[in-house]
Amino acid sequence: MIFYDEGIRTFYLESKDMTYAFCISVHGFLQHLYYGKRIAREDLSYSVYHIDRGHGSNIAGAPRNESLNVYGNECPTYGRSDYRQSMIAVCDEAGVRVGDWRYAGHRILKEKPELKGLPSVRGKETLVVKLREERMRAEVELFYTVFEELPVILRHMEVCNCGEGSFWLDRAFSFCVDLPDNKWEAVTLPGAHLRERFMERTALSHGTFTVESKRGVSSGQMNPFLAVIRENTGEEQGEVYGFNLVYSGDFALKAESEQNDELRIVGGINDYDFSWEVHPGEVFTTPEAVMVYSSQGIGGMSRTFHDLYRNYLVNPRFSKRPRPVVINNWEATYMDFTTEKLCAIIESVKGTGIDTFVLDDGWFGVRNHDRSGLGDWFVNMDKLPQGLQPIIDCAHANGMKFGLWFEPEMVNTDSDLYRRHPDWAIHVEGLVPCTGRDQLVLDLSRDEVCEYIIESVSKILRENAIDYVKWDMNRTLTDNYSAHLGRNAKELHHRYVLGFYRICEALVNGFPDVFFEGCASGGCRFDPGMLYYFPQIWTSDDSDAYMRTIIQYGTSLCYPLATHSCHVSVCPNHQSGRVTPFASRGDIAHLGATGYELDTTKCPKEELVQIKEQVTQYREMQELILSGDLYRLNNPLKENLFCEMLVSKDQKKAHITLMVPICVPNGRALRIYPRGLCPEAFYEIPELGLVKRGDTWMNLGILVQSPFGDFGTKTYRMVQVER
Ligand code: GLA
Repeated sequence: MIFYDEGIRTFYLESKDMTYAFCISVHGFLQHLYYGKRIAREDLSYSVYHIDRGHGSNIAGAPRNESLNVYGNECPTYGRSDYRQSMIAVCDEAGVRVGDWRYAGHRILKEKPELKGLPSVRGKETLVVKLREERMRAEVELFYTVFEELPVILRHMEVCNCGEGSFWLDRAFSFCVDLPDNKWEAVTLPGAHLRERFMERTALSHGTFTVESKRGVSSGQMNPFLAVIRENTGEEQGEVYGFNLVYSGDFALKAESEQNDELRIVGGINDYDFSWEVHPGEVFTTPEAVMVYSSQGIGGMSRTFHDLYRNYLVNPRFSKRPRPVVINNWEATYMDFTTEKLCAIIESVKGTGIDTFVLDDGWFGVRNHDRSGLGDWFVNMDKLPQGLQPIIDCAHANGMKFGLWFEPEMVNTDSDLYRRHPDWAIHVEGLVPCTGRDQLVLDLSRDEVCEYIIESVSKILRENAIDYVKWDMNRTLTDNYSAHLGRNAKELHHRYVLGFYRICEALVNGFPDVFFEGCASGGCRFDPGMLYYFPQIWTSDDSDAYMRTIIQYGTSLCYPLATHSCHVSVCPNHQSGRVTPFASRGDIAHLGATGYELDTTKCPKEELVQIKEQVTQYREMQELILSGDLYRLNNPLKENLFCEMLVSKDQKKAHITLMVPICVPNGRALRIYPRGLCPEAFYEIPELGLVKRGDTWMNLGILVQSPFGDFGTKTYRMVQVER
């Protein structure tokens, strides 16, 4: 709940396990006081340090021991005695970049307002605090949304131009948090295509630690996530502050420690190549930041993110609904297919429980390789002479739904679209644009380009029975310029994202029954902004079961398992050459929205039988995937073991999956320690034929007979029983 104590001009933002407090200082600045474990509503101003630090500066007109550089600040700005990271940088027409932003009122709303043009988490009670800069006639509103049951604060900012001339935002971050000491480590999710989100821990020190993307997308190189943790924080114990941005474009998250040995964390749209003109009367809205506090380790943080995203971010029409189990033809055929081949794949999985066929790249334009066709969203009649209908009919005849791949943000120079509108691709006149996968990026800052995409995709969706769309995006942005923006070309990347969100909004709302899966060369745009529109995302083009343990482990830090799209593919694996058992591939792909991506017409009979068994098992555990609590029992980056556990909210059912990558003959006893069970209740593990109390399982552990052979997996079900 949100409480304002008028007497001491202090705001308290509270949830079950968390307090966040700040006050209006005597000078009218918003002074941060506390963020952490829930505490009583007391006067906290005693904790503000006043010191006259040499070789610094003071608040104008204030005594020498008053400097914004020493105080915690909810909205730090540049040039007025605080030298640390600012949240906002404004420049007016005269080139003035400094100003005093002082308190100018607040309100507490019962419902959280939407963020114009941006995806955001649904919420209720929201505090809005207004700051005004009199000279520039500018106003900032800081938004804070709290949740009764979750230690979460949602933040964003709106900047309003109330004056008569334009000003430019050279930085407009979404949040700032000041922590009182600097003994922290950073947890981040760096990676690359085929190895996205490999969790990393880095000790923080003096200076500024930044994670960011400059690629126009949130990126597989660095996820828009940062957590700061204590040295002794582990999976289930210790303090964590986790930050995640509901944004799919260039972002920056920064943690800075300066002369006071404190830590300031700020983040939002990356200001590296950003500047935004705010005309008189206009409002600029920043993306939303999600802040999660956990006193129960990284695992506690993840479970909070998962609950938040499942309950308040992902489209409620799909969030808790069983996911389609798909067969996708990409790794089976790539672009080399015929109607007959596709129908043969569909028929081969009849009766296995697979319920959706997804036709991947290659069905449109003149698309026989990846150098042509993108932009031409009509059926390739040379390849599929009777169009999509016979394939859709075949899927329906075999009890399956039909899904289709698109990559609408892109264009190949060898396409009708490019020949008609070469200027629609992002480029600088007189410079040959950089290509990526032989394609160019459409300029989504232009309305007519967005309209074309909405209309061409809608036409296919209107004219065909399509239940599922896989929305791909296979390169990052370059040549950042758009003639219509002229000197404001630094707006391009953000305008691209806004155009993209507008397209998503139109299609997702225009076709409410279609299930959208996101993809960007696999998991290179995996962020909360995408999850607002697309309930699941193809987690990585790397479908190798072993690599997937590490990728899915990192992805689970903030994103619930049901949002990870995971497929069983053929071996030797197409990305790594690795051979893993078919059973292991199934077990690892089950830790998400599962599916298959191999030429099932070539599968031996036993594998088809296994597929059927696997799908049946998956359907039995899918409720845990959709709503269970995740416990990561091991870090696969550190040990020769991957082990994850899901526990139902009522603690009646649980499921454990483990993989031992390298088989060690005559190895040590492998013991795993379940978590999250009810200590007094009895649980049966049918695979072991044993019933023990929850506290016995959690403290004495499960003794595992290590799988024989490399990359072997084991699964255990745990079912509460009466004793
Ligand atoms: C990307 C996707 C793949 C597949 C191909 C098609 O790489 O991640 O799953 O759809 O494009 O070109």
